[in-house]
Amino acid sequence: MSRLLVTGGAGFIGSNFVRHVLAHTDHDVIVLDKLTYAGNRDSLAGLPDDRLRFVQGDIGDEALVDGLFEQVDAVIHYAAESHNDNSLHDPRPFLDTNIIGTYVLLEAARRHETRFHHISTDEVYGDLELEDPSRFTESTPYNPSSPYSSTKASSDLLVRAWVRSFGIQATISNCSNNYGPYQHVEKFIPRQITNVLRGIRPKLYGSGENVRDWIHADDHSSAVLTILEKGRIGETYLIGADGEKNNKDVVEMILETMGQPRDAYDLVTDRAGHDLRYAIDSQRLRSELGWRPRFGDFAEGLAATIDWYRMNEQWWAPSKDATEAFYAAKGQ
Ligand code: NAD
Ligand code: TYD
Repeated sequence: MSRLLVTGGAGFIGSNFVRHVLAHTDHDVIVLDKLTYAGNRDSLAGLPDDRLRFVQGDIGDEALVDGLFEQVDAVIHYAAESHNDNSLHDPRPFLDTNIIGTYVLLEAARRHETRFHHISTDEVYGDLELEDPSRFTESTPYNPSSPYSSTKASSDLLVRAWVRSFGIQATISNCSNNYGPYQHVEKFIPRQITNVLRGIRPKLYGSGENVRDWIHADDHSSAVLTILEKGRIGETYLIGADGEKNNKDVVEMILETMGQPRDAYDLVTDRAGHDLRYAIDSQRLRSELGWRPRFGDFAEGLAATIDWYRMNEQWWAPSKDATEAFYAAKGQ
């Protein structure tokens, strides 16, 4: 048995990983989370106190980070500013947390010789053409488009440099778009589900033709645990579940599942620099480490996610009005 430090463990995907680890392993967990607008203590409610400790703080706080690295056997780094639209509005926190914050953790990993896993995104590779049959692989060149994805790309390159120059024991994973419970209502799928629950029409950027490669957050967590246990040090693994869908199809599925007409949505101002298509080839993870996704059927995972938002309004309602006001000010 060992103890893991999970940064960003009160966020959408980090909290999913914490639940996954406590349910499927003997490890104890310390969460380090700043509780920004995106962090929520309630996302960790009901988990066993004797195996989970929560520390509120910034990954950029060197003394705090150093003390925590003393106490753990491995670090899984989820903390980030994670929303593209926010990064277009105010990039600075993205540089502070995603780049400088990651640097502080890497220096601690170097001092303490701690096993380190860095969570990243497929958006570091830029985008693909809609009709292009190719998908991202571990050797696709980096070509990020937004302030968000360029700071994530920067953090990946720092991890690679710390492996090569200082020999830290690190792995990296780049995952496609996640969906599931506990995702902030600023993101595409929960925004549209909670819009319908509030009687607001879903909002599609541009023509709605952009493609994302959806994976359930539970599958992301099982992949990260697999890489932590079996991944080769210094290696990058792409995580994806063959879930390509365009945004219009997703909105129509949400509307239909929620008993609304399929065309009851609005087309709104497009996102600046909006990436066209993401698609992941996760062959390395599957063939080398034997990982398989559990959620084969997007419609089923989406229906369960809709049910979760229907049943958990007290979790998302406090963020909904401010999020919609932010979008409304931009005509979105
Ligand atoms: P999120 O915004 O829901 O959660 C981020 C968490 O990090 C929050 O709890 C926040 O309070 C915390 N945080 C932010 N700045 C911090 C700081 N300086 N110090 C400590 N904690 C801080 O994000 P998410 O969607 O759960 O994404 C988690 C990670 O997964 C990110 O690294 C993101 O780049 C990556 N990722 C996300 C997706 C996706 O579809 N959401 C896909 C691939 C990779
Ligand atoms: P998002 O959830 O922000 O994730 P990412 O930018 O990391 O892919 O958006 C997913 C897709 O949905 C993206 O193509 C932008 C689009 N989108 C909309 O069409 N309407 C919306 O209200 C939002 C938030 C996103």
